[in-house]
Amino acid sequence: MRRVFLWAARNRWLRERLPRFRFMKRAVRRFMPGETLEDALAAALPLQAAGITSMYTRLGENLEHVAEADEVADHYVAAIDRIVAAGITGEISVKPTQLGLDLDPEICLAHLVRIAEHAAAVGSYLWIDMESSAYADATISLYERLRAIQPRTGICLQAYLRRTAADIERLRPLDPAIRLVKGAYDEKESIAYTNHRHIDANFVGLAVAFLIDGRERPIRLSLGTHDVALIEQIAEGVRGVGIARDGFEVAMLYGIRTDQQHRLAKAGYRVQALIAYGEYWYPWYMRRLAERPANVWFVMRQMLP
Ligand code: FDA
Repeated sequence: MRRVFLWAARNRWLRERLPRFRFMKRAVRRFMPGETLEDALAAALPLQAAGITSMYTRLGENLEHVAEADEVADHYVAAIDRIVAAGITGEISVKPTQLGLDLDPEICLAHLVRIAEHAAAVGSYLWIDMESSAYADATISLYERLRAIQPRTGICLQAYLRRTAADIERLRPLDPAIRLVKGAYDEKESIAYTNHRHIDANFVGLAVAFLIDGRERPIRLSLGTHDVALIEQIAEGVRGVGIARDGFEVAMLYGIRTDQQHRLAKAGYRVQALIAYGEYWYPWYMRRLAERPANVWFVMRQMLP
């Protein structure tokens, strides 16, 4: 099932047709409050009142023209101001291919620097998403250059990739901010763990080692997962060296395990909800279905009158 949804995420024919159906639009609402930034900000307010901060991403990837990347960068710069004006403590997360990585890495870096400088000026932060493994080297190089210019920046790394331990070592001299996730793309066995138990073990091992090695350093670690058992295992693994529950962050997607987001925030964890918005939600939504095929029943229920 996972493979089928990940294939559907990449299929152009489906991408052009499925999002037009009303039942699909209704189904995606479960994980996305709406297509505009205003919808996302409205959804963040009650979360903020419950002590859950937010992070925003406008959905879109793999552009074809440089002008589209310029528009995306302009959008994010304006979005940062709108988040501040709404009285919300929020950060931004972007996909490098949404800022032109496929077209010209130098243009992509210039956009990242511009957005990061603007975020830092208002006390916010810029995160770089990690896309499929084909982009890993380019994304890490971009982050190294960006971080040297603007430190209030972080990168997402994927625990399913066998290379991630080495990537963390490579980034360690920068005292990086890392959002660790399991990984959402279809990767080959030769470069990625495909067994759940191996991925989980790598996730815990990488997180605990990064926190312990960096405990005297200005690092930042965000656990981008809904796997509460793993989060608690990591908290337990670092408690012995004096790292409390607020010594790292937990990031979950809007609409997924909301009850746990509230419970963890009340229990002293620093919880952040990633709120997606935008019109180009189809491949992102297919990846969410791939993570939990049981959600397909929810989509099917939306087909009923
Ligand atoms: P896992 O899939 O094992 O799920 C644990 C439990 O959470 C499940 O048992 C279920 O109860 C619940 N759950 C998980 N997904 C669900 C869903 N879709 N619907 C309902 N319940 C669900 N990936 C990537 O490759 N690059 C990136 O930049 C990012 N960025 C990112 C940011 C943030 C904040 C999050 C939370 C996730 C990402 N991801 C990502 C996605 C990540 O790689 C991964 O695919 C998902 O988080 C699902 O894996 P879990 O860690 O939640 O565990």
